[in-house]
Amino acid sequence: MRILVLGSGAREHAIITSLLSEDVAHEITAAPGNAGIAEVVETVALDATRGDVVADYAVDNDIELVVIGPEAPLVAGVADAVRRRGIAVFGPGAAAAQLEGSKTFAKRVMDDAGVPTGRAIRAGTYDEVVAAIDELGAPYVVKADGLAAGKGVIVTDDRTAALSHAEHYLQQGGVLVEEHLSGQEVSLFLLSDGHTVVPLSPAQDYKRIGDGDEGPNTGGMGAYSPLPWAPEGFVDEVIRTVAEPTVRQLERESTPFIGLLYCGLIVTKQGIRVIEFNARFGDPETQVVLPRLITPLSELLFAASTGQLSGRPHPEFSNDVCVTVVLASEGYPVSSAPNRPITGLDEAATVEGVHVCHAATARTDTGFVATGGRVLSVVATGSDFAHARDRAYEAIGRIGLEGGQYRTDIAARVL
Ligand code: AMP
Ligand code: GLY
Repeated sequence: MRILVLGSGAREHAIITSLLSEDVAHEITAAPGNAGIAEVVETVALDATRGDVVADYAVDNDIELVVIGPEAPLVAGVADAVRRRGIAVFGPGAAAAQLEGSKTFAKRVMDDAGVPTGRAIRAGTYDEVVAAIDELGAPYVVKADGLAAGKGVIVTDDRTAALSHAEHYLQQGGVLVEEHLSGQEVSLFLLSDGHTVVPLSPAQDYKRIGDGDEGPNTGGMGAYSPLPWAPEGFVDEVIRTVAEPTVRQLERESTPFIGLLYCGLIVTKQGIRVIEFNARFGDPETQVVLPRLITPLSELLFAASTGQLSGRPHPEFSNDVCVTVVLASEGYPVSSAPNRPITGLDEAATVEGVHVCHAATARTDTGFVATGGRVLSVVATGSDFAHARDRAYEAIGRIGLEGGQYRTDIAARVL
């Protein structure tokens, strides 16, 4: 198949790695891709957030499937533009992508669909924020209503910090103050063709920058899959109580969700609750889910994009486990330290069961340099978690980046 993958992160590198591992050879182009992706497929410098540009490229190049990685093009309506030209596209249109683009919209859909989630109060002014946080109490959870690259949420006992976070995002379209929920978090991805949903294997992400879940939230510092501790029947329950009702609600509203429904869940004492939806594959969870997928990814993405998920068996996964550790630049998530050389990539890749997904890297005459916050993901597969962790940490230990930071406790809680 001729496939165009939009995006430039480690997630897209993982999607492309999975597509390339299939028995059938595909012709894959990434737009814009990154330096790691450019080592394995053709890349093209398109503005992936412009629907007209992407649709024209897809038509001119006989693309059969467009896979949209990040949220920005989804919210900008790129899927709509491509779909209008009759090309299969994996990713929801702008209206359904509001599930991720607006937390107020997501809460409204969950309300209407009867999906379990925490209480939330929308605040558009400082006084409303004060009233809401005092009503819901500590720990305080304050979220930017719109897209914020994983950094829009604060969870804190510090009332002043909660208020100043709110103040910042009030200028960018408002905030949601939420009831605090506690329990283990799960990311479950489901493919949706607008009506039928099909689950992938659950993963757990590490959102905070520091070991022991200390420090600010990030886009994600590591992940593992599967979740040996997940309650019996967990995936079926999420399908029945969260994913199907949500997808059917959007179908009834004539804004079908076609693509990947990322359910960010928390398993509380009172049961499963939705923390957030995303409208795309998660990063870094994708890096640990896809290496375990046995069913060809292209078949699943194409079936979802063309209304053909009904009656399909659930995708098959290997019994191997997978761990990923993200290497971030000095200063992340507040700042980044660009153009520092990355060493040891080849040595890391020689650790058995390990591969590296690039995110913010660039190629120079002398090798790769880091260009942004989350630089790369080291991915390790193994027969059990001790094994996969050992491999991941052996490999990341071989990579050099001045000031580079990574967590040392990814998947430790499973052992
Ligand atoms: P989000 O961007 O909505 O996924 O939030 C980022 C992280 O903040 C989540 O992964 C949780 O760790 C935390 N978080 C978000 N909402 C809540 C909540 N209502 N209660 C407790 N923690 C939360
Ligand atoms: N890992 C969190 C996200 O992709 O939003």
